[in-house]
Amino acid sequence: AARPRVLSGIQPTADSFHLGNYLGAVRQWVPFQDTHEAFYCVVDLHAITVQPDPKELRHRTRVAAAQLFAVGLDPERCTVFVQSHVSEHAELAWVLNCMTGMGEAGRMTQFKDKSAKYGEGAASVGLFTYPILQAADILLYHADQVPVGADQKQHLELTRDLAQRFNHRHGETFTLPSPFILKEVEKISDLQDPSAKMSKSSSSPQGILDVLEQPSSLRKKVMRAVTDTGTEVKADEVDKPGVTNLLRIQSALTGTSISDLEARYAGQGYGTFKKEVAEVVVDAFTPIRERTEALLADEEKLDRMLAIGAERARAVAAETMTKVRDRVGF
Ligand code: ADP
Ligand code: NA
Repeated sequence: AARPRVLSGIQPTADSFHLGNYLGAVRQWVPFQDTHEAFYCVVDLHAITVQPDPKELRHRTRVAAAQLFAVGLDPERCTVFVQSHVSEHAELAWVLNCMTGMGEAGRMTQFKDKSAKYGEGAASVGLFTYPILQAADILLYHADQVPVGADQKQHLELTRDLAQRFNHRHGETFTLPSPFILKEVEKISDLQDPSAKMSKSSSSPQGILDVLEQPSSLRKKVMRAVTDTGTEVKADEVDKPGVTNLLRIQSALTGTSISDLEARYAGQGYGTFKKEVAEVVVDAFTPIRERTEALLADEEKLDRMLAIGAERARAVAAETMTKVRDRVGF
């Protein structure tokens, strides 16, 4: 039987993925290569909703793509591509825009969060219709499953509603995607403010561990991570959120359970613990950084890999759009 199809995207909005992106998303994309027909997309059309500098966007798109290959996505086993290379995304998004109610779009809570910082009316219409572009990304490829965190569930519901609406009005065209709930990686917290999530948009540089960061800098940040005045290495979300976050990071990167880690550090204090967490992070990130740097240094190779991905993605997207155009009346 054909493998189920999965689609996921990541925005090129920083110079590196951070530990949260890695554990909460891209690392979990790797195993789908062997169980699913997987499409992974660097969503640069989504990124322009907040008007980035063009040079920076171009650079970040390449860095994001290189990192996806560097974490282990293999162009022989999955399709990695850049969204803007496949113009059908924008075209389908327009069709879906015309089928979405203003009120319906206005109920998307992520827009309310993301637009808050712009002040009344200043956020772009693109940011407002962002979930509709996301629906187009998914529906173009007839994705059966979409790996999502809790924050994306509402957008996937909208995608299903739009697929159903189109199918009802124009005849069976789109597959209704199901959420694939990612293996529980609880939120990775900001090292300096363990009550907040590690986030490129809200964390201070000291609170974030970037995949492409140098070992010396990673070590410094882990050693300076906020803990508490106690000495016991123990998971306790309420009284020890900083220690809990570091335990979670070490556990996720090594596969050792948190209780085994607690037992190992019994009576040892925070110094030894933090040093070992730092080494685990350095060991995880170093090969990814080196592979990313090598790919970025070989522009032609990266271009070639992305051209292969775009070609494969385009073949599927073009077939979908041919149907859509015909049914809409073009
Ligand atoms: P940011 O919050 O830094 O802007 P994004 O929202 O672009 O990151 O997240 C991209 C992906 O990484 C999403 O799938 C999200 O769930 C995951 N992710 C981001 N931050 C974290 C975190 N702190 N812990 C776990 N997963 C995260
Ligand atoms: Na975010």
